[in-house]
Order: sequence, then structure tokens, then C-alpha cells
Amino acid sequence: MQYHCITRLTIPYILYTMNHLSIRQLSLQYPGGLLALDQISLDITNGIFGLLGPNGAGKSSLMKVITGLQRPRNGHISFNGTDVLKEPAFIRSRLGFLPQDFGVYPKVSAYTLLQHLASLKGIGNHRERKAQILSLLDKVNLLQVKDKEVHTFSGGMRQRFGIAQALLGNPQIIIADEPTAGLDPEERNRLHLLLSEISMQVIVILSTHLVEDVRTLCHQMAIISQGRLLTQGSPENMIRELVGKVWTRAIPPAERQAYAAHPFIGQQLTGKVLHIAIHSEQQPEGFLPLAPTLEHVYFHTLNHS
Ligand SMILES: Nc1ncnc2c1ncn2[C@@H]1O[C@H](COP(=O)(O)OP(=O)(O)OP(=O)(O)O)[C@@H](O)[C@H]1O
Ligand SMILES: [Mg+2]
Repeated sequence: MQYHCITRLTIPYILYTMNHLSIRQLSLQYPGGLLALDQISLDITNGIFGLLGPNGAGKSSLMKVITGLQRPRNGHISFNGTDVLKEPAFIRSRLGFLPQDFGVYPKVSAYTLLQHLASLKGIGNHRERKAQILSLLDKVNLLQVKDKEVHTFSGGMRQRFGIAQALLGNPQIIIADEPTAGLDPEERNRLHLLLSEISMQVIVILSTHLVEDVRTLCHQMAIISQGRLLTQGSPENMIRELVGKVWTRAIPPAERQAYAAHPFIGQQLTGKVLHIAIHSEQQPEGFLPLAPTLEHVYFHTLNHS
């Protein structure tokens, strides 16, 4: 399904395509029998969509199914109206993927490797290819080291190289599995700005463990755990639902066991004092009201799953 929207950017009116990824009742079982995805349904449109969940929740598995690297057991995925499980080439030619782990890095320069990947993505015109590669290397702050071999890059540089290759060919959907892992704060901000800028016109699906990044970047999000979708919606709405229901008190860390009846949805150690946060419909004795955060939403959702 193709939508057209008119939006206000720096130029008064720009016409762009609204992309739509539809996931229905998606299940994935690995050969050992583990059900990594259990009946996941999601609708994702332009903008940054945040995927949160603990280790082993199924975030990378979901991303691999969308990209066509894993076949699901059941379910449907369509991108802009085309069934991508039947026609994987349709999404592949419009997709940029930054996997969580690249594995081995070849002994060729960043520029040469991008040249090769650009050819694979069908960017045939030599001048266009060169211009796009240089612009992307500049955007991810690797222009100065474009002739260095990728296997000699630091972890953060490799991550930025991964982002550059994911953006090759102007994809309509970008899937980034923990893109900020290993980036220093300056590079993390740079990547956030880059993703925000491009997400007006494309779908960006971002998995991360940094709840605050989802709060600042994403207009929609989902929390998954043990392969199941626990909740989805906008971070603002989810936070609003907890207003008047989060309470805090400062306790000595050794006393934390005494609160076992109220699972914590936040805790912060300041010196020798532990500030705990709990969820309750009424104000518990000795607790003070606290403004809810997305981290409270995250832990509250996991506690209730
Ligand atoms: N190739 C595989 N074969 C068998 N089991 C797998 C395979 N890949 C992942 N799993 C299992 O599937 C579950 C989901 O893994 P997945 O990598 O999708 O989680 P994740 O949410 O991305 O976790 P993390 O935050 O640690 O990256 C885990 O229990 C994992 O052990
Ligand atoms: Mg993962």
C-alpha cells in the first residue's frame, strides 16, 4: 500500500512516500526447538521504531526474519503491500541492515569494501557510486580513514562502517541491531542526528538496550520478552499511563530484601543510599511520588509479563 504525505521540512513542502511494514502472527522456531518468536504482530511506518527487550528476548531474531535471513514457522510480513516472505527480493533491494555482529572483516579498505557492496546493491553508475560512498563516509566520520583496511578499525569505527554500508543505495527501510553499541558519546549523538534526519522518509527499526535512546528518538516502540510482544505504542503514551503510580523512597542497600513484595521498577545508588522506585495504584506508606520515566515503563512491563 503506498501513501503520500505532505510534510514541512526545511523546504516548505516535500512529497515523500509513507512506507508500511506489516507483521502478522509471526512465529520462529530454531532447529533445537526453541520458540524465539511467538505470534508477533506489528505495524511500522516512517520514523524510528524502537525495539526493547532483555538479552535473548528475540530482537535480533525478529530483525533476521524481516531481512529474509531466517524463515519463520508461521505468519506474514508485507512491505508496502508486497508479501516479502514470498518475494524476499522486494524488501532486500529496499533494505539497509546493520547486524549485531558482522563476524569477520575483510582485508580491504573501507572505500573498496563499500564500492563492492554498492555494486551488489545495484548502484551501477560509477560517478553516482563514488559520490554516495564519499558522502556516507563523511556522515559517519570515516572519510579521513577511507583507505585503511576495515579489519584494523576499532570497535566504534567498525560500527560506523556498518552504518555507512546499511545506508548505501538510499534504502526505504533500515534495520539497525544495537547500532550505538561501542560508540563514544559524541559518535552516538552523531548517529542519532543522522537517523532522525533520514527517518522522515524511511522506516528505521532500532534495537537497543538504552531505554533513554528510545525515549528521545522513537515515535513508536515495542517491548518483547521470551519471543512475545508485551506492549507497543508511543513512549509518551506509555509514560503517561504511569503518572500518579510511581513512588520512591531512599533505603540502605542492605534493606532491599524487605521490599520483595513490591518489585522495583527503578533503582539508583547514590553514595550509600539506594533510591528505589515501585509501581502502586495508591501511595504506599513512607514513599514519595515520582515522575515516571520510560525505564519505569520497561521494568513494570517486564515484571507483569
Ligand atoms: N541460530 C540460533 N539457533 C538456535 N537458537 C538461537 C539462534 N539464534 C538465537 N537463538 C536463541 O533465540 C533466542 C532469541 O535470541 P536473539 O538473538 O533473537 O535475542 P536478542 O533479543 O537479540 O538478545 P540480545 O539482546 O542478547 O542481542 C535466544 O534464546 C537465543 O539463544
Ligand atoms: Mg540481539
